[in-house]
Amino acid sequence: MTTPASRTSQTLIADRPESKMTSITPLKATDLLSLNSINLDVLTENYHLGFYLQYLSDWPAMFFKSTNPADRCTGYMMGKSEGRGLEWHSHITAVTVDCDYRRLGIAKDLVDHLVTCSEESTQDCYFMDLYVRATNRLAIDMYKKFGFSVFRRVVAYYSMGEPSDDGEDAFGKYHQ
Ligand SMILES: CC(C)(COP(=O)(O)OP(=O)(O)OC[C@H]1O[C@@H](n2cnc3c(N)ncnc32)[C@H](O)[C@@H]1OP(=O)(O)O)[C@@H](O)C(=O)NCCC(=O)NCCS
Repeated sequence: MTTPASRTSQTLIADRPESKMTSITPLKATDLLSLNSINLDVLTENYHLGFYLQYLSDWPAMFFKSTNPADRCTGYMMGKSEGRGLEWHSHITAVTVDCDYRRLGIAKDLVDHLVTCSEESTQDCYFMDLYVRATNRLAIDMYKKFGFSVFRRVVAYYSMGEPSDDGEDAFGKYHQ
């Protein structure tokens, strides 16, 4: 069966001077070796290799990348689906865009693509949610623009025991 992320979608971002053709394609395990420049961003959450591989194995349609015409990865979306009954939903674990390719609408394309995946009959999610650092104003405003609302603030969400965790609060946001 063809899953949403196994199809290649071509999106022409035409209303910007830096117009580029962006493709959205499934992320492959070998792509993980070329994400370093994107993951070096301070606001991009980094995980151990096994965590990425678990997402690739469990939610392959929800882990995808954007690429430029030279097939360079310009960003990625790491998502999953979870919950029971009416709580069944998709979740954005990480979305990030290469510094050189920001403000071109790529994050919007990635989020829109996850929405499409979430609405497919194989997923049929009731809503989508995510957590964002309370100080990440840009991302908070971006999600608001995309139609997400804050449903709670989790104190010290970023204190899960990883060395990089700093105990920062997170806003939980959802989209229906
Ligand atoms: C947040 C991030 C993903 C945005 O990616 P992007 O591809 O530049 O975003 P888009 O071009 O799709 O912009 C979508 C909207 O977000 C807002 N936005 C994005 N960058 C902005 C900026 N630098 N200043 C103000 N608003 C901005 C705008 O409202 C924009 O819409 P507009 O261009 O029509 O005004 C990117 O900055 C990033 O990777 N940041 C680090 C990781 C991160 O914070 N991820 C989100 C938390 S999980």
